[in-house]
Amino acid sequence: MKKYQKFDMKGANVTNKEKERLAKHLLERGYVVVKRVTNHRNSSVSFDDYLQSIPELKSPLTKECDKGIGGFGALNYASAFHHPHRIESDLDILDTVKPILEELARLVGLEWFQQIPDRSIYRTQSQSGTSWHTDNTSGAKENDIFFGAHFNLNKKSANWSGVQTFTCAPGHHSIHPRLKGGEYTPSDKDKIRDFKQVATRVSINPGEIMLHFENIPHLAGSKVSAENPVKKKIGAFRLSNHSSEWMPENRERLEHQAPLIYKGGEDPPMFAKMHLVNWPSKLSDYANLLIDDCVEDYKYQTGKNAGMTFTFPKRRSPSLASIGKKYKYNPVLEALNRTMYRVKRISDV
Ligand SMILES: [Fe+2]
Repeated sequence: MKKYQKFDMKGANVTNKEKERLAKHLLERGYVVVKRVTNHRNSSVSFDDYLQSIPELKSPLTKECDKGIGGFGALNYASAFHHPHRIESDLDILDTVKPILEELARLVGLEWFQQIPDRSIYRTQSQSGTSWHTDNTSGAKENDIFFGAHFNLNKKSANWSGVQTFTCAPGHHSIHPRLKGGEYTPSDKDKIRDFKQVATRVSINPGEIMLHFENIPHLAGSKVSAENPVKKKIGAFRLSNHSSEWMPENRERLEHQAPLIYKGGEDPPMFAKMHLVNWPSKLSDYANLLIDDCVEDYKYQTGKNAGMTFTFPKRRSPSLASIGKKYKYNPVLEALNRTMYRVKRISDV
């Protein structure tokens, strides 16, 4: 594994020289790790506060609760997209990466900017091994560049560093988007050998943010235990020479506090379809943890369970407006949230 370089941004007002250094590293290597530069806590909430008060659950989230969510641990409850912590951590990510993206946009001649929604992650189990792959936002237009951001929300303790890692192949990203979108797993053996030769395990300490080209080849995350789960906020950004908005339908979803269409271009489901086929009992267990508004009866028409009815989670988490649980923000947060995901000129961000 190769060594990699880390950067320390001292406050939000980075010098032009520092901005240039960070943007060039991102452009050439495909990623950059920096310390958060702000800590928005207008409403004094933390990710842990959220995990203790998820309105879709009957009781606080424990390590037992992430069954059904899947190995990645993305929280797809409507509340996960609208809890004040989501807004504040997205603002922290934005403030931290903005100078870098501004400079990168200048280097590549792109003018339009959009912050894109993504999920909060609570992972208690290691993900099963994946192959080298790239992530690609669906709905990308020619010359768009999409970036992923990884904000480590773990807390360091006396016997745990809280470090999260990301294994990638620096320099193998592309400024050209894959217009088909989706996860792409190359099968070309020479390519995979090239990735392995430069493979770098990037560590992200608590409070640090990694910004990366979404299409940098990478592998699934490191080992995780239930005692020390991974907590992180992922975010995303688009630079473009188009002024059109990616997924304008999210405007209405923000209003009703429904799950947002996230970077992958998907309407986030509460479980994968294969759960219906393979693990009905896991789905029933999961439904038991949810409030009545978030579950429904499901009758099997075919297969070994044909004719049987189970109570399962609703496949899509209902909007908070529809279940009378909308969050109320203070006026500052309300105003920031309303325009946060709109497309803007990078000079106006
Ligand atoms: Fe990935």
